[in-house]
Amino acid sequence: MVIYFQHMAKGRAKSKPSPKASRRVATSGDIEVSTYLEIAKEIGGEQPEAAREAIPSGEREAIIVIDFGSQYSLLIARRVRECQVYCELVSADTPWEKIAPLNPKGFILSGGPGSVYEANAPMAPAYIYESRLPVLGICYGMQVITHQMGGQVAPGTKREYGHALLHLGGVDSPLFANVPQSTPVWMSHGDKIEATPPDFNVLAYTDNSPFAAIGNDKNIFGLQFHPEVVHTPEGRTILKNFVYRICGCQGNWTMGNFIQDSLTKIQKEVGKGKVISALSGGVDSSVVSTVIHRAIGDQITCIFVNHGMLRREEVERTFNTFRLNMGMNIVYVDASERFLDRLKGVTDPETKRKIIGEEFINVFEDEAKKIGKVDFLAQGTLYPDVIESASSGSTAAAKIKSHHNVGGLPARMTLKLLEPLRYLFKDEVRQVGLELGLPEEMVWRQPFPGPGLSIRIIGEVTKEKLEILRAADWVVMNEIKKANLYRQLWQSFAILTDVRSVGVMGDYRTYGYLVAVRAVTSDDAMTADWSRLPYDVLARISNRIVNEVPEVNRVVYDITSKPPSTIEWE
Ligand code: XMP
Repeated sequence: MVIYFQHMAKGRAKSKPSPKASRRVATSGDIEVSTYLEIAKEIGGEQPEAAREAIPSGEREAIIVIDFGSQYSLLIARRVRECQVYCELVSADTPWEKIAPLNPKGFILSGGPGSVYEANAPMAPAYIYESRLPVLGICYGMQVITHQMGGQVAPGTKREYGHALLHLGGVDSPLFANVPQSTPVWMSHGDKIEATPPDFNVLAYTDNSPFAAIGNDKNIFGLQFHPEVVHTPEGRTILKNFVYRICGCQGNWTMGNFIQDSLTKIQKEVGKGKVISALSGGVDSSVVSTVIHRAIGDQITCIFVNHGMLRREEVERTFNTFRLNMGMNIVYVDASERFLDRLKGVTDPETKRKIIGEEFINVFEDEAKKIGKVDFLAQGTLYPDVIESASSGSTAAAKIKSHHNVGGLPARMTLKLLEPLRYLFKDEVRQVGLELGLPEEMVWRQPFPGPGLSIRIIGEVTKEKLEILRAADWVVMNEIKKANLYRQLWQSFAILTDVRSVGVMGDYRTYGYLVAVRAVTSDDAMTADWSRLPYDVLARISNRIVNEVPEVNRVVYDITSKPPSTIEWE
């Protein structure tokens, strides 16, 4: 979500994303919503106390990951949550007082780029050992344990990277219960353990690493390999063993529990107050609005701004789902003329984005004013956003302001933020959506950019071009869904280029538009590969577009990956 603003700042065509930017994920379909909400937060809206109590209150338990900066740290947290145990990621300087209320049952020390013998290398805080809770160090985390507990770590002569075969050996441990005697694992480390700390046993080894897994009888373990990545097929079993057999967790982190708990918390927090949310039909705004509605009914009003750049039938579908099926209070604003007016003559992609962002805020604010006194603004912030803004050192709103040039909201509109999803991963949000009865189609929607079709029309956006693109895009979506490919693809859509070419239809020459089709696979939108769609699917898409959309006489398929291209064309 945030990278998008960085793109805008630098002009996407001109600049290379910084390494920092490359860590960010651009997936939100609710971008203007986020802009609005972030800025509202910055201009004085009071922030609720971080929702540390996201864990079901009855039997609270958590595994804490101390983040030493590995690219896989968040993945560890996800894997633990997949075991139905709540997990949070914290930095190594987090004080015990912040962790204790979570009722930690164990710690995981993540990997990281550092070397333990370097000056200022991050170390595990003393409470990790003093608490007597189980500890699992992964890669750098294992080296930290070794270093701090009296073993020896030395620079490896060569970096071990990739697959290795792990052999269980030495002492049996519950950490490896149900793991075969030999199993593939994924290694990625430079430094290696030369000598284990006193009283540690070797639990497993590989050809290159005599100390691939170690442990002592105080339940402190170290793994040289990464159990959290898919290339370690038994990784889940190992993590599951750690959280259940070693830490003794109960496994109460289920989305059903989460919903029950959230309902009570939202009711308590909001009281008799009023909430507004900006509904876009994207997954996050849909789920956040629905969970709040479930908690407080008509005290929430959703404002659904149609900027006129949505796909065919999106408006009806969103409106019907929320108004008719879920019975929610929705203010629907058709502001398409207003947006189109402002986009007249505009061809520069970043100017389009800026105009749409600004105008969205204007419309939203106008509508919010009509509702009268409002206390809370609902926001679909997710856990990766929370982690991202905590580690980036600057607020998303600051980025938006400098990069997006959004003017900000009037100071009088100070709203408290209601962010019931701020401790969830995207896949958890989807589960919550399904449990709340949202249709699969909505919960599994592919990401859709905030500025919508405007950045899929090269050149000026006009009503006529929007109609052409909608018709072509409809065919792409329809055929992709029919071929059962929709969920496998990160995104699939049509682009209306400003190229026209000569064609022939019957006895006539035509001079029609060129439509491009884009379908990509990706995990996080930071990199993407063009999808090798079956030829017959491509053939059907092409045939149908030229037959059903009279203004188009040529269809091409985009076969570039990201990088060097981007997913969107503008
Ligand atoms: P690119 O084109 O940068 O897109 O490879 C990465 C992801 O971000 C989405 N995207 C946007 N989302 N507002 C958004 O809300 C935008 O202006 C925007 N530009 C790109 C894009 O659809 C893809 O998922």
